[in-house]
Amino acid sequence: MNPSSEHPFSQGLRTERVGEPCAMVIFGASGDLSHRKLLPALYNLSLSGVLPANFAVVGFAKDEFSQESYRTEMKKAVAEHSRRKPLDEEVWGDFAAGLDYVSGSFEDLASFQKLKAALERADQERGTRGNRLFYCAVPPSVMPLILKQLSAAGLVQNRGKGKPWSRIILEKPFGHDTESARELNACVHEVFAESQVYRIDHYLGKETVQNLMVFRFGNSIFEPIWNRQFVDHVQITAAEDIGVERRGAYYEEAGILRDMVQNHLMQLLSLTAMESPVAMDADAVRDEKVKVLRAIRPVLREEVQQYTVRGQYARGAYHGKAAAAYREEERVAKDSRMATFAALKLYVDNWRWEGVPFYLRTGKRLPKRVTEISVHFQRLPHALFGAMQGEAARNVLAIRIQPDEGISMRFNSKVPGEGMRVRTVNMDFRYGQAFGAEPPEAYERLLLDSMIGDATLFTRADEVDTAWRLVTEILEGWKEWPSDPSFYEAGSWGPQAAEDLIGADGRHWRRL
Ligand code: NDP
Ligand code: BG6
Repeated sequence: MNPSSEHPFSQGLRTERVGEPCAMVIFGASGDLSHRKLLPALYNLSLSGVLPANFAVVGFAKDEFSQESYRTEMKKAVAEHSRRKPLDEEVWGDFAAGLDYVSGSFEDLASFQKLKAALERADQERGTRGNRLFYCAVPPSVMPLILKQLSAAGLVQNRGKGKPWSRIILEKPFGHDTESARELNACVHEVFAESQVYRIDHYLGKETVQNLMVFRFGNSIFEPIWNRQFVDHVQITAAEDIGVERRGAYYEEAGILRDMVQNHLMQLLSLTAMESPVAMDADAVRDEKVKVLRAIRPVLREEVQQYTVRGQYARGAYHGKAAAAYREEERVAKDSRMATFAALKLYVDNWRWEGVPFYLRTGKRLPKRVTEISVHFQRLPHALFGAMQGEAARNVLAIRIQPDEGISMRFNSKVPGEGMRVRTVNMDFRYGQAFGAEPPEAYERLLLDSMIGDATLFTRADEVDTAWRLVTEILEGWKEWPSDPSFYEAGSWGPQAAEDLIGADGRHWRRL
């Protein structure tokens, strides 16, 4: 593109950061995540010119691919899922030259010896200098086995500054509950030091999520009112229109609390509520996030009916077409009680937030895909322009995480003309308009960070543990809840119980 025709603000989007030479191993290379997210992200990094020149990928899974057939399969996946289309044949060609595949089972040490040979080949042919980035795109139950085999095959090294390094990226959910997450952490730490560990939560890679920190701590006007004196309550919604798709077996084990609340929603809450970190480095930021998680008042198992709602989608409509109930999905039990929707009322017990409720809701098969954080300010102390009802009564700051990424502020304005009629209006900031470009995919940012060695946007062991303690207590309470979850029609905003949860406090969910 001719630089003079570039949108003036898009220059700031170019990054000077380039990953260090390395070979990346993807465990679970034949899975959904590899097809839809990981390979497209790597290709896009290559297209942006930030992938190191000395780079290789070795896919590892049970499926019998040859090097050639794996390249063909991934080319198809990238062409379909890349955010930038059509596929650039030249860039793909360069990238694919460093793409290899090892077929094997995690149970079999000999497969890891094959992997070792493939990595040594990459060092010679691609100049990856012995640096290794292991990516576990697999369910948490098989991670301990991978760790054990990596160690047994002598594939992990950390010889200090300037020497070849090994890092490991672990997908979410990290464990199944507090206990299993602790066990997994113990397995991880037997093989890797914490500084080598990158627990991924892809929400942290989203531009709009990172912007939360810039918005709060890079401006002077918001922090003074970001507290219990001015804020009435906060709402966090992560709605999806899709159902469980082909992930029924996974979902039957996970459900909404493990899949979305323990990780993504807790991250959004902690970034909204945290204090300013002393520096923008990995530990300072994560210290503050952990403090918020520790301050969240636990919902005890006997309190779940008071503070939480569990829902499951029943038959309904999805974009005008009939949609099946969760219990009718592939690989889902006909009498499953697994929740596909959750609403929670939480309190952060500290000086800043005492008494301010944080309402969280998330679910599958809701009317649309939208993630938003809204901060609802207190009512006017005095009704100078007549009593304002409902929406008009409060200023609301809405941070749209996705889609239509942006921030809007709702306030009241005089209607032009005679008299003093007042109406609610919005002041809007939109990323697309302001920067003239779509933000990169979360996985691009996170993969690049891990190649550079920056763990700021990854979760630390104590953070994961604290989030699990909160969620595990609710999971236990839900297990003891004798009735079915509240059913909601596919394509609706969830069960009536979710309206009642917030309605009982004289508030209502924001219309999205
Ligand atoms: P899939 O089931 O699609 O893929 C799992 C992969 O792991 C497959 O390649 C599978 O190979 C491989 N695998 C599992 N067990 C073994 C074994 N014993 N030996 C060798 N290979 C094995 O899952 P996803 O890709 O959807 O998810 C992977 C992880 O990523 C999960 O933890 C999930 O929570 C997380 N995640 C997924 C997201 C998504 O959108 N898909 C989003 C965010 C996180 P095979 O098929 O040959 O068994
Ligand atoms: C994943 C969950 O972590 O996040 C999925 O496993 C969910 O169930 C997805 O669909 C949502 O991510 P995004 O980026 O589309 O909001």
